[in-house]
Amino acid sequence: AMLTPPAKPLAGCQMTITAGPTREAIDPVRYISNYSSGKMGYALAQAAAKLGAQVSLISGPVHLATPAGCQRIDVSSTQQMYDAALRLAPKSDIFIACAAVADYRVAAVAEQKIKKSDEQMRLTLVRNPDIVAAVANLADKPFVVGFAAETQDVACYAKDKMQRKHLDMIAANDVSQPDSGFNVDDNALHVFWADGEQLLPRADKYQLAEQLMQLITTRYQHETN
Ligand code: CTP
Ligand code: CA
Repeated sequence: AMLTPPAKPLAGCQMTITAGPTREAIDPVRYISNYSSGKMGYALAQAAAKLGAQVSLISGPVHLATPAGCQRIDVSSTQQMYDAALRLAPKSDIFIACAAVADYRVAAVAEQKIKKSDEQMRLTLVRNPDIVAAVANLADKPFVVGFAAETQDVACYAKDKMQRKHLDMIAANDVSQPDSGFNVDDNALHVFWADGEQLLPRADKYQLAEQLMQLITTRYQHETN
């Protein structure tokens, strides 16, 4: 019997995906970060490669194997992720911001290990640049997909983020329940675009990534044809 070759709807498509947490140094031995595992971004990269995309995976520090066929760029700080993203985005057709980016960094990173002294200490933090918003503001911008992790008014906050950052799509994640979203294997997503929405019910992150990548592919083809 003849085997049907797998459909490659993303053949010739350059895709950049950010994944995992970023880390902000406090001193040479300490940092601020979050619980992101990177699983969703890596699953999306794998799903995209399976559909024929050329995937660049800009990854914060995670404990995951590089998906087959993806080019991985390792970064640590938000600034490093920003630099890699803004270098790759102009050559990309699709940009997916899946990383859990640290919103703030330490204003003045100590050159030496900080010694403890008083009962209280203060760290001054400054806002980091918004990577996905910067990509979406490029003159020749790719099709841009963001994520939104929310604990309340999920749909409302997500749609607001999509509009403010000029995203083409946003995948909202309700992280109010302890067993969804961050650092877990199961997840559900509510996806929005300018004139539509779709609920992707709870599934393991790989199945969910395949469904989301299908949806991204459909919307991308719709907007570019
Ligand atoms: N994001 C980004 N760069 C940042 C912060 C966020 O690219 N400095 C991206 C994330 O990768 C995600 C989207 O923006 O795709 C939304 O991230 P989220 O943390 O939910 O939103 P924020 O805009 O940071 O707002 P807040 O944390 O205040 O809800
Ligand atoms: Ca944030």
